[in-house]
Amino acid sequence: MEIRELTPDDWEGEAALAEEAFGAAPAGSPPRTRPAEPPPGRHGWGAVDGGRLVAKVVALEQASWWGGVELATCGIASVAVAAEHRSGGLLAAVMAPLLAQAAERGAVLSTLYPTAPGIYRSLGWELVAALDRVTLPTASLSRVRPPVGVTTRRAEVGDVRAVQELYAAWAAAQNGPLTRTGPRFDRPDAEIHADRGATTLAVDTAGRVVGYASWSRHGGYGPDGVLEVHDLLAVSADGYRALWQVLASSASVAPTLALRTSGADPARLLLPGVTWSPDPAAHHPYMLRVHDVAGALTA
Ligand SMILES: CC(C)(COP(=O)(O)OP(=O)(O)OC[C@H]1O[C@@H](n2cnc3c(N)ncnc32)[C@H](O)[C@@H]1OP(=O)(O)O)[C@@H](O)C(=O)NCCC(=O)NCCS
Repeated sequence: MEIRELTPDDWEGEAALAEEAFGAAPAGSPPRTRPAEPPPGRHGWGAVDGGRLVAKVVALEQASWWGGVELATCGIASVAVAAEHRSGGLLAAVMAPLLAQAAERGAVLSTLYPTAPGIYRSLGWELVAALDRVTLPTASLSRVRPPVGVTTRRAEVGDVRAVQELYAAWAAAQNGPLTRTGPRFDRPDAEIHADRGATTLAVDTAGRVVGYASWSRHGGYGPDGVLEVHDLLAVSADGYRALWQVLASSASVAPTLALRTSGADPARLLLPGVTWSPDPAAHHPYMLRVHDVAGALTA
């Protein structure tokens, strides 16, 4: 058994192992093509048995906000062991060089979304948070108080930087959110803008962006209509009010609003009631491992 860093030549083995563990990509997904170069900020490690990739783990170069400070964070993804090789300790064997390399790059933390916490506990990760999808009746938003001194407009490609700055201001005040910067996020503005989809900005009287909501809708305009809100962030109460009010205007065509959220979301404080319902099928626990206690606490 050989434990080694993965290269673009392992792409087919990686795809086969990913499909075995997590299923095929949904119909209609863009075809995945073999990368010519290792994707920036992505470092895969694997175990190869007789020329076949039988275990893999990927480290992503990220950073996250803790106590108002950006900490270099290794994002762990694509953890899979071939069915016949499970329960044999391969995971720890592949994880060890990957974590050592991440530490050399300066990562003091690592985080992941587990399929089961037990897989990672003995390797040093613990549950600290969750990414959730919650739903609420869009009509309930009609009772959100109108904002004072904040208006809304649709974001354009020229607003990409302002949206990123707003995200950073919001994220720096929380514990855990990624910075959404670094090699994996370094893309042209037009691409970022197109991927974000419809984005509503909340703007104060001085023209400063004080919040944004990115959203899409699915289903029809009857009872199955859903307004799916991917990000809803603001740095003031009136910012949140203005965004909730725009989302409320879809009540007649999208009776359900779904929001991606985490923890004690300040957006909820502006709602007239406490009625949002967690979607049990979209609850993703989040685990943290501190690689370098002194480094993390000193920073
Ligand atoms: C999860 C997976 C990678 C573990 O690989 P493995 O080779 O069986 O792992 P190991 O034998 O090295 O076991 C590592 C630890 O995880 C635990 N573990 C493995 N699968 C588990 C599960 N489903 N639930 C709880 N604990 C589990 C083992 O008991 C062991 O803990 P221990 O050291 O305290 O005894 C493998 O089972 C797999 O590929 N599963 C399908 C894909 C998947 O779920 N990937 C994880 C994505 S987050």
